[in-house]
Amino acid sequence: MKNKVFLTRTLHDFALKELKKKYQIEIHTGKIPIPKTKLRSKIKEADGLICFPYDKIDKEVIDCAKNLKVISTYSVGFDHIDTEYAKEKKIRVGYTPEVLTDATADLAFSLLLDVSRRVSEGDRIIRDGRWKEIFGAFDYVGVDLQEKIIGILGLGRIGSTLAKRAKAFDMKITYHNRNHVSKTREKSLNAKYVSFEKLITESDFISIHVPHTKETDQLFNMKILKKMKKTAFLINTSRGKVINEKDLVAALKKKTIAGAGLDVFETEPINKKHPFVNLPNIVLAPHIGSSTKETRIKMAEITVENLDLGMKGKKPIYSVGY
Ligand code: DGY
Repeated sequence: MKNKVFLTRTLHDFALKELKKKYQIEIHTGKIPIPKTKLRSKIKEADGLICFPYDKIDKEVIDCAKNLKVISTYSVGFDHIDTEYAKEKKIRVGYTPEVLTDATADLAFSLLLDVSRRVSEGDRIIRDGRWKEIFGAFDYVGVDLQEKIIGILGLGRIGSTLAKRAKAFDMKITYHNRNHVSKTREKSLNAKYVSFEKLITESDFISIHVPHTKETDQLFNMKILKKMKKTAFLINTSRGKVINEKDLVAALKKKTIAGAGLDVFETEPINKKHPFVNLPNIVLAPHIGSSTKETRIKMAEITVENLDLGMKGKKPIYSVGY
């Protein structure tokens, strides 16, 4: 009898083929994310689980599993998984960093370019038939990036890769981290360590690259937004809950800051009724940081490899803690 693997969503054909060689697989179809009751019932007999960022794998779900050896998530983020509890239960957790670094940094930089040069705003103006005059001295004016300060919160893999993009655009790079990165890395990225306070108050662009934790929950609230320059832009491709959305809406309306580019939201998906939707000075993306053809294939490869290793009782290539 083959071991059982449950997938909360489908994956690429090559990945499913690989999985089918070794395991008896079952793929959830229908409502996304999988309803919790169904997940709880399916995980009961599963030896392995492949899940996605919207699936909450909490204590309650983990407690339903009788044979589970490994949880392999198709994402770099793992804040949807109670990793501490999984560890306690000796369940391995695999995730997919590195392969999505370039794609996510590219998306962060494209949000930055888009909002500062008002590309999506212009697109909406044309589609709505509102483009009436051409080339006035003050029409659709954006800002230059050259010599502007980008403050990167979290100079890890994605933050560092974003710094490379910013360097190529002649931006001044500052960062804040729990720890300084090595001098060699600082030198190669031309990045200067600053305090959180300095990063907030002096940056022309702030890009968030920290995970969602108790410490970063709602970190960007009105108190912080008010400290930012009135001309500054906030970019977020990490997790939505790092920003207090109500406060950001108010800040964008009152022009407390100039604009924002977001790929992630407090609750996803957002719909047309969300207050962000009617604001001109924000660019919205539907959580597509890692969404390129090439990256998504690589993520599928790693997800399967992580699962395979965990099923054998070994540590996944990219493993959370255990
Ligand atoms: C992830 O993999 O966690 C990212 O949010 C995808 O963009």
